[in-house]
Amino acid sequence: MISFNQVSKRYPSGFEALKNVSFRLAQGEMAYLSGHSGAGKSTLLKLIAAIERPNAGSVLVNNKNVSVLKSAALPYLRRSLGIIFQDHKLLFDRSVFDNVQLPLQICGFDHKESAKRVRAALDKVGLLNREKANPIALSGGEQQRLCIARAIVNRPAILLADEPTGNLDAEYAEEIMKIFNSFHQVGVTLLISTHDAAVLQNSQVRVITLKQGEIQSDAARCATGDAGQTATSTDSGRAFLTKSPNSAEGAAC
Ligand SMILES: Nc1ncnc2c1ncn2[C@@H]1O[C@H](COP(=O)(O)OP(=O)(O)O)[C@@H](O)[C@H]1O
Ligand SMILES: [Mg+2]
Repeated sequence: MISFNQVSKRYPSGFEALKNVSFRLAQGEMAYLSGHSGAGKSTLLKLIAAIERPNAGSVLVNNKNVSVLKSAALPYLRRSLGIIFQDHKLLFDRSVFDNVQLPLQICGFDHKESAKRVRAALDKVGLLNREKANPIALSGGEQQRLCIARAIVNRPAILLADEPTGNLDAEYAEEIMKIFNSFHQVGVTLLISTHDAAVLQNSQVRVITLKQGEIQSDAARCATGDAGQTATSTDSGRAFLTKSPNSAEGAAC
């Protein structure tokens, strides 16, 4: 579902943030992207969303080379992705509900259908009773859950999260990871960057570690874990996130 083939990324400053990076993430797989600050984690995630372009190599998402996508095709790519940014990007001049609804408005959903989806997404992250609140009134953990609701409201098949537990205490971080695990259970493909030792220690999933822009290691943490397996569940949870279990595009509008 995601494939990096000898990818290098040099910023205009001349700094080479990624060097010859290759890996594949199968449909329904969950992996952590770890590494020290500056290792290239955010850059790698931005290449998947075509926010940045590689200088060499190719990045395939759903078998499409997103490194060469024309700007007109970008909305289609972005609709198949849910992205949780490191810096939240919440809008503090509107309500929790409106923040989550925004991606659907952009897609042109009618109000009734979008309201249904927004409430389903808020319910999924336990924020249904805060829909009228302003995000500023939420705790750090709740703001992060709001970001997750906004990222999943389009029912994407792939979820990218950039240090989602970065500023949270252990209890909130665990809550967030449980939400991600529940998406994994229903077949969503997840790539989550983190340098949170607690998250990595307790995890049984695949960890791809970057060091100074190169892959240092890429391994499942535990032989009995489910890393690398494709989730097969088709329960109602999956139905919430992806319209069709076989659709690589998710329920893009
Ligand atoms: N837009 C940019 N222009 C120049 N250098 C950048 C830019 N974004 C990131 N970098 C550099 O690339 C390296 C990798 O950054 P990043 O991908 O943000 O790492 P991480 O997310 O692992 O902390 C860092 O040294 C950073 O300073
Ligand atoms: Mg980063």
